[in-house]
Amino acid sequence: MKAPIFAPLSELSSLVESLNPYKIAVLTDENVEKLWLPRVLEILDGYEVLKLVIPEGEEQKSIDTAITIWDRLFDFGFTRKSLLIGLGGGVITDLAGFVASTYMRGTLLGFIPTTLMAQVDAAIGGKTGVNFHGKNIIGTFYLPNFILISLETLSTLPMVEILNGLAEIVKYAILDANVYEILRAIRDPREVTKNLELIKASVDVKLRIVREDLRESGKRRVLNLGHTVGHAIEKLSDYKIKHGFAVSIGLAAAAKVGEFLYGFDSGKVIELLERFNLPRKLPFEPEKVISAMKMDKKAWYGRIVFIVPIEIGKVSIEEVPEEVILKSLEDLT
Ligand SMILES: NC(=O)c1ccc[n+]([C@@H]2O[C@H](COP(=O)([O-])OP(=O)(O)OC[C@H]3O[C@@H](n4cnc5c(N)ncnc54)[C@H](O)[C@@H]3O)[C@@H](O)[C@H]2O)c1
Repeated sequence: MKAPIFAPLSELSSLVESLNPYKIAVLTDENVEKLWLPRVLEILDGYEVLKLVIPEGEEQKSIDTAITIWDRLFDFGFTRKSLLIGLGGGVITDLAGFVASTYMRGTLLGFIPTTLMAQVDAAIGGKTGVNFHGKNIIGTFYLPNFILISLETLSTLPMVEILNGLAEIVKYAILDANVYEILRAIRDPREVTKNLELIKASVDVKLRIVREDLRESGKRRVLNLGHTVGHAIEKLSDYKIKHGFAVSIGLAAAAKVGEFLYGFDSGKVIELLERFNLPRKLPFEPEKVISAMKMDKKAWYGRIVFIVPIEIGKVSIEEVPEEVILKSLEDLT
């Protein structure tokens, strides 16, 4: 799995040149179209480019949208030697990856992630997908030919989207002492979007893990740190609470579980969340959250598996007794 390229958008021209695509299509959403598509088209001047612009939002990550895109690609004469570029957040990279992996059994694929969430998480690791009866039920593993991470694109990101991605960086800070040290020195969330060292270090954590276990048979599960409780909260809120905010509360809960089981210093996590004003209070009754987690368990691993912090840089994957989870959640009410 190739590492992403950290460079200004102008680097796109040499990345595309080296792939020598027959045709190019750029998939983006209406927000990013206004902000960043003109610049990308300017760089791609001279190529035949199809613009695929969809409304923003998670609802677009659907099989219906994929069909519309397959149709448009077919009419455009797109082939396996053509390049689909996903320019946008995780919705766009997941959808572009899915379309590219299925159209004619796989085309060239490039990502230009433009949210913090997509740069440190969604664009890395080869998981593609669309929602179908549930989140990411239909999908593939498919690696892009390039990922171009340009910090300049984060300059237009609203604060709520910065915080959404920042929760995943706090997760990496628990998994990796280097990320923790860099993050500890930062005070303002906006600074995060300009901190190349932090974004690179976060990407490195994910890369290291997915390189060992692309298809999530073992080690990759540590990336679900904070997500056991996080998913339950998202579901209970009917997806009104954003993923990153639910994960943030999930990280606080995991930190408490680590404290009960291993004496982990949960204050280290709570302090980071507090500093960035990320949520750590449980918005539902602990019992309700546990019931939602139990429903989720069937869809995932067949049991409630928790990623438990032991110390910064060290976690375990284990089944946690319900009373420990309950005590941890009660601490967050
Ligand atoms: N494949 C994976 O491993 C993986 C991992 C994590 C998340 N995901 C998926 O990613 C999706 C969430 O990604 P997201 O949080 O990026 O959401 P998103 O793609 O919906 O983007 C969030 C919002 O930011 C806007 N936006 C994007 N770039 C912008 C910019 N530079 N300036 C201003 N606005 C901008 C978008 O238009 C959108 O309104 C979910 O569908 C999730 O399942 C996938």
